[in-house]
Amino acid sequence: MGHIRSERLCNSGRFSRAVTAEEEALHPALRVPPPRHSHCPGRVNLIGDHTDYNGGVALPMAIDLGTDVVFEPDSSELIVLKSDTEDEHAEVHVKIPLEHEYLRAVRPAWARYVAGMVAVVRPRTGGWGRITTTLPVGAGLSSSAALCVSVALALGLEGSPPRVARICQRGEQEATGMQGGIMDQLVTTSAVEGAALLIDFADLSARPVLVPEAAEFVVVHSGQSRNLPVTAYAARRAECEAASYHLGPLGHVDPEAILGIPDPTLRRRARHVVTECDRVRWFARAMVAGDLGEAGRLMIASHQSLATDFEVSTPALDQLVAKLLEVPGVHGARLTGAGFGGCVVALTEPGALDPDDFPAGAWRVRASKAASVELL
Ligand code: GLA
Repeated sequence: MGHIRSERLCNSGRFSRAVTAEEEALHPALRVPPPRHSHCPGRVNLIGDHTDYNGGVALPMAIDLGTDVVFEPDSSELIVLKSDTEDEHAEVHVKIPLEHEYLRAVRPAWARYVAGMVAVVRPRTGGWGRITTTLPVGAGLSSSAALCVSVALALGLEGSPPRVARICQRGEQEATGMQGGIMDQLVTTSAVEGAALLIDFADLSARPVLVPEAAEFVVVHSGQSRNLPVTAYAARRAECEAASYHLGPLGHVDPEAILGIPDPTLRRRARHVVTECDRVRWFARAMVAGDLGEAGRLMIASHQSLATDFEVSTPALDQLVAKLLEVPGVHGARLTGAGFGGCVVALTEPGALDPDDFPAGAWRVRASKAASVELL
């Protein structure tokens, strides 16, 4: 049964290939699956923040920094993973329930992500593995989604990119107790090398938008670590839900309609989402036309909207954006991801910014390919 499923999925999805009879034969008694090596990139969102959970659009890009897992199943019932960035290893029983109550009790804290993935993948056996990463943690470059997707693929999760994304999102939500959106998982599983993805969250469809050769993206850390504040993110989600109560999902609302929202705060939240979705579409057109000046202007407008209407910026992020915009050759800059600290992304002429000039960390990032897994 498992064999047939693997073969079928092998034809449709990019995350699996059939386990050969020879490989199965190596473990006849235990039917221990073969070892796997997975890789999942991080992502930078070029434009379109806080639109995913509103059924809107965004334009994120998978980057050439990411997380790798090498996992060797054995006949035990424990998943043991060591990470090169953590002192303590993760040790999770294969039958841990998919419930926040159980997952939040897992120690150390980073192991909760592993536990969430074990709970959604339900691997047949335990095993031992190693995690390595080139992603900065807590910088808003999706280090947690990269960890989750990479672990899930190494544990044997298979399927189409939206399926893998949905399952990993579910496990991460249960592990953290936060209702995060699906942008990070979707872009890292669906990415195309050399392109950003125009994602429509109404149906999870994704269209590649080629990054022009003259465009360079530099991600600069604000120095303010972003431990995604559960309450602030949840509060914005709740405000959007309240604003959409009479109008339907904000990502598809007519701009005129938001004038009818009586509460001024909710009206501003809705205005951000509606105008941000417009900016995303214009940004995609500007990229296709190679109009980097226009793309930069849209990024600046996006930052302003996130700062004033959506109120997820911080003085450190605002100052960094202002400083970057003074540098010749910088077309535009904006906070990227949830906000509340973390990173700014700048669109520049090649070589306009030197990552070494930023003590809190900066990375010149390239549009990279999607997450993948191979049998070893
Ligand atoms: C976080 C979430 C995403 C998205 C962004 C804001 O990164 O994980 O789903 O909501 O914030 O755009």
